[in-house]
Amino acid sequence: RIPDKIFAVDDEDTRELLPRRRRDSHKGDYGRVLLVCGSRDYTGAPAFSARAAVRTGSGLVFLGVPASIHGIEAEKNDEAMVISLPEEEGKLSPGAVPVILEQLRGCDACLIGPGLGRSEGVSAAVRAVLETCRVPLVIDADGINALAGNIDIWKRNCPVILTPHEGEFQRLLGRPMKADRISQAREFAQASGCILILKGYRTVTALPDGRVYINTTGNPGMAKGGSGDVLSGMLVSLLGQGLSPERAAWGAVWLHGRAGDTTASEKGEYGMTPTDMIEAIPKATMQY
Ligand code: APR
Ligand code: MG
Repeated sequence: RIPDKIFAVDDEDTRELLPRRRRDSHKGDYGRVLLVCGSRDYTGAPAFSARAAVRTGSGLVFLGVPASIHGIEAEKNDEAMVISLPEEEGKLSPGAVPVILEQLRGCDACLIGPGLGRSEGVSAAVRAVLETCRVPLVIDADGINALAGNIDIWKRNCPVILTPHEGEFQRLLGRPMKADRISQAREFAQASGCILILKGYRTVTALPDGRVYINTTGNPGMAKGGSGDVLSGMLVSLLGQGLSPERAAWGAVWLHGRAGDTTASEKGEYGMTPTDMIEAIPKATMQY
């Protein structure tokens, strides 16, 4: 243990991470999650997030995507229920807002962002979800870009977890990072009241109370487009299964890295893909 409320996440901390699956349980016990992702230009991200959520143990996964890619996503995702959302030129339109809010009712956790692209409709959707959501909410990728530079984003009634890489974090801040990653992440989490997962080598998870967790799993084979979407899918799954937001946050990061490490040992860092990592999630969860 390092002083100054900074903790390294190791195997010991994650031993009891996942909820036990009681013999007499049913899918309602493992969470209904809503993922709002994708655009005509980004059809991979929604599938990575949704399949990762399924592999992490969610009871029901709902995937909302712009109407024009509904067919593609339905084909890619057998287990998820794919929902068609109003769009304009391949991206969410403002008309998607009421449909998303309707779907949000009855869900246990929500993810918005992967592959959404940038548009007025996307911004409207992200803001509406942030203001309306009553369950834990993960904002990733273009969800973060939609909030960039706007600080009235903190009107909300739910725990929020943001998962930027360094580029997205600087966009969110509206300026370059001035200090080291740990201090910047901590400062942001304290000021915003959100949990911040600053990704990269040794991902930093900062909590609003000033605690910071440094991840110890993962490898550079994960430095490929799509790995981040896998993480946000795993995270929303753990939230839907009822983990506290803080445990879900550092736990998902750890488990994601562990799946990455298993994959690297089997396929090597060059050839491994985000899809391989999704297929390695079952093994990563098998100690539970
Ligand atoms: N060691 C450990 N983990 C790593 C390493 C490393 N050297 N490099 C990357 N990772 C992990 C990160 O911690 C993170 O969990 O891989 C994941 C990468 O996530 P993102 O940076 O969000 O990348 P991703 O979303 O998959 O793809 C790139 O980001 O810049 C945008 O528009 C761009 O859509 C694109 C996307
Ligand atoms: Mg990303």
